[in-house]
Amino acid sequence: MKQQWWKEAVAYEIYPRSFMDSNGDGIGDLAGILSKLDYLKELGVSLLWICPIFPSPNDDNGYDISDYQGIQPEFGTMDEFDALLAAVHARGMRLMLDLVLNHTSDEHPWFIDSRSSRTSAKRDWYIWRDGRNGGPPNNWESIFKGPAWEFDEVTGQYYLHIFSRKQPDLNWTNPAVTEAFSHIIRWWLDKGVDGFRLDAVSHMKKDPLFADARRLKGAPPPFSMKKYMNVPGILDIVDRLFQRSFNLYADAVTVGEANGVKAARALEWVGEEQRRMSMLFSFEHLDLWEDEAGTRLDVPALKKALFSWQKALNGKGWNALFIENHDIARVVSSWGDDTRYRAESATTLATLYFLLQGTPFIYQGQELGMTNFPFRSIDEFNDIRDRNTFLHHIQQGMSPAAALKTVARVARDNSRTPMQWDASKNAGFTSGTPWLKVNPNHTTINVDEESRDPKSVLNYYKQLIALRKRFPTLVYGATTPVLPDHPRLVAYTRHDAKSRILVLCNASNRPSRYHNPETPLLLHDALLLANRPVPRHATLTGVILQPWEARVYRLK
Ligand code: GLC
Ligand code: CA
Repeated sequence: MKQQWWKEAVAYEIYPRSFMDSNGDGIGDLAGILSKLDYLKELGVSLLWICPIFPSPNDDNGYDISDYQGIQPEFGTMDEFDALLAAVHARGMRLMLDLVLNHTSDEHPWFIDSRSSRTSAKRDWYIWRDGRNGGPPNNWESIFKGPAWEFDEVTGQYYLHIFSRKQPDLNWTNPAVTEAFSHIIRWWLDKGVDGFRLDAVSHMKKDPLFADARRLKGAPPPFSMKKYMNVPGILDIVDRLFQRSFNLYADAVTVGEANGVKAARALEWVGEEQRRMSMLFSFEHLDLWEDEAGTRLDVPALKKALFSWQKALNGKGWNALFIENHDIARVVSSWGDDTRYRAESATTLATLYFLLQGTPFIYQGQELGMTNFPFRSIDEFNDIRDRNTFLHHIQQGMSPAAALKTVARVARDNSRTPMQWDASKNAGFTSGTPWLKVNPNHTTINVDEESRDPKSVLNYYKQLIALRKRFPTLVYGATTPVLPDHPRLVAYTRHDAKSRILVLCNASNRPSRYHNPETPLLLHDALLLANRPVPRHATLTGVILQPWEARVYRLK
């Protein structure tokens, strides 16, 4: 398998609003990130991904961009960005930005021009249609709830927005749009940025007929996204853009957010021969989160999702590995046990995904085992998706208390609360009033406390990162699932000509027995990492893994 810097990297996602505030306005900023680079370096990560930092009216916190070549004033200036980039590079790390291609803000000059008249030169940069029978052009629904079309009085037509109404979708069948974005991408890469995370790429192509979506039985969601997600022909759009931008820069990294792309088709997106994206954020295992009913983790389903990607890409393409990001609730609260086994489950969940083949991503605070927020009122939510979902449930007849409980479990704001640096007021994030409440548990879960505790989640992450650096097998080696049907254990080996490493995780609250004739002797001397003390006498026949216990062995 071809060696590349981004395959060897460990990545770290920063949600800039919530990472570190340098000037007391309660909003994280670029100078704040700069002040924490040494922390990140010491953690061991080598590739930073910062969520959008461009000017934005903040309807969706930066994912509604009004200028792709500027810096959001709340975050700082272009000079501060240049200083940050230089400081990242000076520490031997790389920087990836977040590019929203599917839509802009409705306050972007392109859209302002586009909506001004039917004959505007930019009219066709967006998707405008006449209504049907006094209503929207078709039945498509927004991913943030409600119709995906907004009527515009000025010209008497509807525009498409598959996210919020302040995020109009671009028309990627128009070559001028491709040209504009090729220019923007080259401009940033020429500046020295190392690559991009590509937001919502699988939505860029819409059904050319704009036919009605099929209604699905049962809710949510009561509609199919097939007409505007992963529509055939999407890769032609990607190719036209890549040929004029990323493919001119051999070293640039790209990670596409690809809702709807299954393992079976993954090679078309990231196969090395294709010259498309470096990696994809898959949603197959994410779908196991999005359960408002709060069903517990389905371990076999998780293994099926993860291992199918490992198998599909081995030797031919590359995985992006992640279990948290700014769009999902905290993993330790969703899949782990954030009361009885917080540290144990946080470290087991870390082990089970981190040592797979691919580039591991850590979302800020994940390395501390940060938990969901104890929401008590809808006023505590900032996120447009969370608020719309709450209203949607109320409209469907749910009581406010039930709606709050349902939304709180999966709310994106769970992972957007400020980073917990220390036990002081506001967790050391700001000297002012934070834009989103700090989790009250910052008094015990924080960087300061955890750096001093050798058994902390933070120190476990450091060991995990160091281990991956020590064994190239953990980077490039192949993955073989072990006991794939076991209901609670997640186990696999990573192997190449040099070594064979066994990863063993008990993803449950129950003790579980590991027995496998193919890995006969688990000697204590061969133990590379463990999240609990391991008795010296442990051999195969007697391996009982305690609740949320994880071990990594080097095999003969
Ligand atoms: C992506 C982002 C998410 C955003 C959406 C619309 O899914 O990760 O935060 O709301 O795109 O841009
Ligand atoms: Ca600030």
